[in-house]
Amino acid sequence: MKIAILPGDGIGPEIMAEAVKVLKALDLRFEMETAVVGGAAYEAAGHPLPEATLNLAKAADAVLFGAVGDWKYDKLDRPLRPEQAILGLRKHLGLFANFRPAICYEQLTAASSLKPELVGGLDILIIRELTGDIYFGQPRGRRTAVDGHFPGTEEAFDTMRYSRPEIERIAHVAFQAARKRSGGKGGKVTSVDKANVLETFQFWKDVVTDVHKDYADVELEHMYVDNAAMQLVRAPKKFDVVVTGNMFGDILSDEAAMLTGSIGMLPSASLDKNNKGLYEPSHGSAPDIAGQGVANPLATILSAAMMLRFSLNQEVAAQRIEAAVQKVLSQGLRTADIYSEGTTRVGTAQMGDAVIKAMG
Ligand SMILES: NC(=O)c1ccc[n+]([C@@H]2O[C@H](COP(=O)([O-])OP(=O)(O)OC[C@H]3O[C@@H](n4cnc5c(N)ncnc54)[C@H](O)[C@@H]3O)[C@@H](O)[C@H]2O)c1
Repeated sequence: MKIAILPGDGIGPEIMAEAVKVLKALDLRFEMETAVVGGAAYEAAGHPLPEATLNLAKAADAVLFGAVGDWKYDKLDRPLRPEQAILGLRKHLGLFANFRPAICYEQLTAASSLKPELVGGLDILIIRELTGDIYFGQPRGRRTAVDGHFPGTEEAFDTMRYSRPEIERIAHVAFQAARKRSGGKGGKVTSVDKANVLETFQFWKDVVTDVHKDYADVELEHMYVDNAAMQLVRAPKKFDVVVTGNMFGDILSDEAAMLTGSIGMLPSASLDKNNKGLYEPSHGSAPDIAGQGVANPLATILSAAMMLRFSLNQEVAAQRIEAAVQKVLSQGLRTADIYSEGTTRVGTAQMGDAVIKAMG
């Protein structure tokens, strides 16, 4: 099993060091190879995603990614900016399924803006289609309107579209993820659409319903996106797996992330059709705290656990890491971002060491 390690910028190298330590502490053999990406790659090779890095990512079974970006690169031409590395990797690796779990640990419920009883123990998974929808649909642009409310005036337009295979493959991913989360059988998928208004999403709903015929053990519910946005803050624990298109998923996954209150805790994954994936924390490179040894490495460590589960088929090892994270939280260890009175403040490396100790 080969893992490409791409630490990136800002706190990226610090949090990645802890995830690598945790992976090395497992009784599994991995080949891990590190490469530059983002601003660090621009400095070293003149491009945020150099060919050597891309080739390593292509050759590996999975990619573990830290974070990229720094305000000092904001003046670069867009194709040279650090964030382009993520878009390039998504495109070249064919990553069409984005997994964003929203987990609210009982020990951290105070960090959420919702009442503890609403979010305590929350464990849901938002699956967002990543390569289609109105974000990529053609045609798009600006023109002079020939009809509509104000003909003859300037207007802009985008195209929302989904093909049957695009919807089928993300629906399969969602049903299979629901099964996996339920121990191999069962679970629930909520397919979020706007079928009452949009042709694209009536089609989405029809295709998801067709695919569901292969997954009789998984419960399927359909929900309009406006209702889903409400239910996520009213009764988030009623969800299990949520699957939706690129734009609705963009918005809902951030809403769901905020339910947990702590960005330093949230892992994410983007998968291709063979479950090869790129795994990264949901947060950015946090240049404001880089180099201080205070960043929370748990989102990256939990991303490594997701990588073991989804790309490397090592469920037991994934659960071992996740249980260890629960244990250190129960022991009251906290990095600065999740610190509250009565708990013990630790640095990045101390948190990584504690996770390894808790793994036994
Ligand atoms: N996937 C990515 O690599 C990614 C995602 C988002 C932003 N970015 C980039 O990151 C840079 C900073 O962006 P931003 O400040 O808007 O978002 P950010 O997520 O980096 O930081 C937001 C806030 O959260 C804190 N924070 C984030 N991660 C933390 C952690 N693990 N532990 C403790 N605190 C943490 C930061 O200190 C900051 O106060 C920008 O250049 C942006 O483009 C990259």
